[in-house]
Amino acid sequence: MNEMTTISRQQRAYSPAAAAFLARKPQLFINNEWVDSSHDAVIEVEDPSSGKIVGHVVDASDKDVDRAVAAARAAFDDGRWSGLPPMVRDRTMNRLADLLEANAALFAELEAIDNGKPMTMAGAVDIPGAISQLRFMAGWASKISGETTQPYTMPGGQVFSYTVREPVGVCAQIVPWNFPLLMASLKIAPALAAGCTLVLKPAEQTSLTALKLADLVVEAGFPAGVINIITGNGHTAGDRMVKHPDVDKVAFTGSTEIGKLINRNATASMKRVTLELGGKSPVVVMPDVDVAQAAPGAAGAIFFNSGQVCVAGSRLFAHKSVFDQVLEGMAATAPFWSPRPSLDPEAHMGPLVSKEQHERVMGYIEAGKRDGASVVMGGDVPSSDGGYYVNPTILADVNPQMSVVREEIFGPVVVAQRFEDLDEVARMANDTCFGLGAGIWTKDVAVMHKLAARIKSGTVWGNCHAMIDTALPFGGYKESGLGREQGRQGVEAYLETKTVIIQL
Ligand code: NAI
Ligand code: MG
Repeated sequence: MNEMTTISRQQRAYSPAAAAFLARKPQLFINNEWVDSSHDAVIEVEDPSSGKIVGHVVDASDKDVDRAVAAARAAFDDGRWSGLPPMVRDRTMNRLADLLEANAALFAELEAIDNGKPMTMAGAVDIPGAISQLRFMAGWASKISGETTQPYTMPGGQVFSYTVREPVGVCAQIVPWNFPLLMASLKIAPALAAGCTLVLKPAEQTSLTALKLADLVVEAGFPAGVINIITGNGHTAGDRMVKHPDVDKVAFTGSTEIGKLINRNATASMKRVTLELGGKSPVVVMPDVDVAQAAPGAAGAIFFNSGQVCVAGSRLFAHKSVFDQVLEGMAATAPFWSPRPSLDPEAHMGPLVSKEQHERVMGYIEAGKRDGASVVMGGDVPSSDGGYYVNPTILADVNPQMSVVREEIFGPVVVAQRFEDLDEVARMANDTCFGLGAGIWTKDVAVMHKLAARIKSGTVWGNCHAMIDTALPFGGYKESGLGREQGRQGVEAYLETKTVIIQL
């Protein structure tokens, strides 16, 4: 493996616009206004590329949460958003998308500072992805409709009946730190299209881009109270949102552990719930592949976003005839993925998001070594001037009992296993409590379709990985979640169906 000590891991200077944003007073966005918290508690904003504290955001109190929910409740109940002509909702959402686009460079920089992902990646993936969610869902605002059944006659008279799709109401939306703005837009776009109002809480590690988005809400023309954005901790502010009696629906992306807890808390009062949770996605490499294409593909499947991706291809299954070549090909990509500070234009992979995540990932790597796994590549941290860097890591000689094989690591760590035939790999791929994504690499169309049918996961990719299309549903089988986001199903998750039967 190449020696990478020549890379400077010193974070670069922030732009004046980003520095000014970080210097702002911590406040919450409620009812189209920036307001102070009811108390003084704040959360530190850390740059994971340096480990330095670079700002503060509010740690919302129960009173703050109640105030945001009350604003969303009032805005929903008087129909100031759901009652607008659908094309006005469409245009307002598109204006928000336009403003996001006009400020894309600042959003990408803030995301890089806050999360540690390369600014170039944020600019190429996160920000355009967020814009697409808004634009795609904006179109649904005018395409939501019910059904009319054939009129018929009963002894009491003629019967006329129809269904109406109504917005579900006030939504509590809680998102994680791996794709902060993209996850926020995945939540707010379908809710807005459906006519709902919302309170959004970004993750405590990454609040900056959600707050910057709030800056654009008034200019886009949203009525007060439709979009409320509060920052705070999960077990306090998040918990309050989930249990709040004036909330009708909870939408969450994050860990399976917290997803299960939120599901219990929300359904206690029969709130509607959608959950997008963890994964341990298989990447299957069949013997017929072009290794020169499949190996970098398998590397990208796990190392993109430092492996902090719900669909990360964290379990590699390569046919025994190509296993060694695939691992060699993946190891050859190490210099490309060598972690660098997020504002370094050469960076393809940044640090992990936090000290906590760094400890978690290194803990898994150590556990894997103790359990007898061998390190094919990485397994260590590079030299750096602070920050939470982990080298891209491949572990082999693993077995299905090891924690590195069973649990979501959420770091740049892949476990590699051999297989002999299709039956065996289908069984191995499904030997997990998760079912979010799966990648299959083969030129054989029949094998592709047979395996796609057998793998239990919400999405299957063929000769690619982690491709997302706003028009296509996304979500999990098994413990990877509940419901679907994106596409028609994405907006339907924010609608109730009312049946009206009238005897004329
Ligand atoms: P987490 O699931 O605790 O946090 C995600 C969001 O949930 C944050 O906004 C947090 O404030 C909120 N939250 C936490 N506890 C809550 C509660 N009791 N009620 C309401 N909201 C609550 O994830 P965490 O602790 O940051 O990461 C732990 C692990 O979770 C990671 O190592 C990774 O395996 C997994 N994860 C998976 C993600 C995915 O996209 N599937 C995203 C983030 C983490
Ligand atoms: Mg947590």
